[in-house]
Amino acid sequence: MFNPLTIRQDFPIFTHNPQGDKLVYLDSAATSQKPQVVLDAITQYYQTTNANVHRGVHQLSDRSTQVWDESRATIAKFFDAHSDELIVTRNTTEAINGVAYGWGDHNLQAGDIILTSLMEHHSNIVCWQELAKRTGASVEYIGLTKDGRLDRTSLSAKLSLPKVKLLALSHVSNTLGTLNPIAEIIAEAHTLQSGIRVLVDAAQSAPHLPVSFAKLDADFLVFSGHKMLGPMGIGGVFVRSALLQSNEVRPWLFGGGMIAAVTTKGTTFTDEASERFTAGTPDVASAVGLAAACEYLSKLHMSDVGQHDLDLVLYALDKLSAVPQLTIIGPQDFSETEVDRVGSVAFTYNGVHAHDVAQVLDSVGVAVRSGHHCTMPLHEQFGWTASVRASFNVYNTTADIDALVAGLAKVRQVFNV
Ligand code: ALA
Repeated sequence: MFNPLTIRQDFPIFTHNPQGDKLVYLDSAATSQKPQVVLDAITQYYQTTNANVHRGVHQLSDRSTQVWDESRATIAKFFDAHSDELIVTRNTTEAINGVAYGWGDHNLQAGDIILTSLMEHHSNIVCWQELAKRTGASVEYIGLTKDGRLDRTSLSAKLSLPKVKLLALSHVSNTLGTLNPIAEIIAEAHTLQSGIRVLVDAAQSAPHLPVSFAKLDADFLVFSGHKMLGPMGIGGVFVRSALLQSNEVRPWLFGGGMIAAVTTKGTTFTDEASERFTAGTPDVASAVGLAAACEYLSKLHMSDVGQHDLDLVLYALDKLSAVPQLTIIGPQDFSETEVDRVGSVAFTYNGVHAHDVAQVLDSVGVAVRSGHHCTMPLHEQFGWTASVRASFNVYNTTADIDALVAGLAKVRQVFNV
């Protein structure tokens, strides 16, 4: 039975931070807290198994290599993917950069179009702008509806432009919370544009929803471990095997560990995909920690994790909509069958800057994110200078949202609005 109060006890931050159990942490979309099992797995790896992987013949190196391979397999299984399809990176941003350098540089040319949307995180915009500069391609943006959903007319029109080579889209928006109907969009992309490649940014969906790389007809799927209860500094990109095998995606980092043979005249690279894309010593301990996080989430059952998130989102929308001067951003009217909003509720507060709101909330122990949340084009589009975002994870309760609402009463008092 999913019980956030019991789950909370698995997270030492709620007793070990300077605010003690008064901490109301509503900033999990920036980074989630980590359960003790993740911290223990990392410590245990360093205490019992630490050695470099694929490099030694000694027993410890063998064991470390085995743990690295097992961790990769556990992470891949969580995403319903094969471990050969997983390229480990530091985070989503590095994964998108990797696709830009490892795929984009070799497959795009002047006149090609990279399609993304106005709701994207900067990492899913800036990497493409830079790729466009390098190749002569251009970046086009899918527009949004007033309620913060993808404008499907704009999407279809942009997908019909000649030479759209890549669609790069978030599964869930980090600011609006919008859950995009990604499978349906991918199907439309493949119908309208043969040969298009699709990248799904699952950074904000993987912590809350079951995500299946096998079932999504995407070519690339990127994620960050630290948002899904794992350590900072590890994430990855799943790449379709066919792209790896055909050499359409090439390594973007070079050095030791990824080669077949090196001479003074040149280098050949190993056929083993997982090694070809792992130049240098990998962060084995973080992989072990992320695997522990995946196992922890799987034991909670992702369907229950998703239901809990939905309950919190709906509760927050209900309570926040009654707060004077506050405007919720992102989808609020839902169909009877689906709530297409996940993980967070963001808002603006009439007459008070988002940072001021966040500072007053912090003074009563409520941690939220304020600013543009790395979505400046989105903020510009809607004319917001900044916004406040409350985001959730498995350890949050409705009491946390009540504390947020109580803190907003203090904001009203302090700023006399
Ligand atoms: N991408 C993270 C956020 O949305 C940092 O806060």
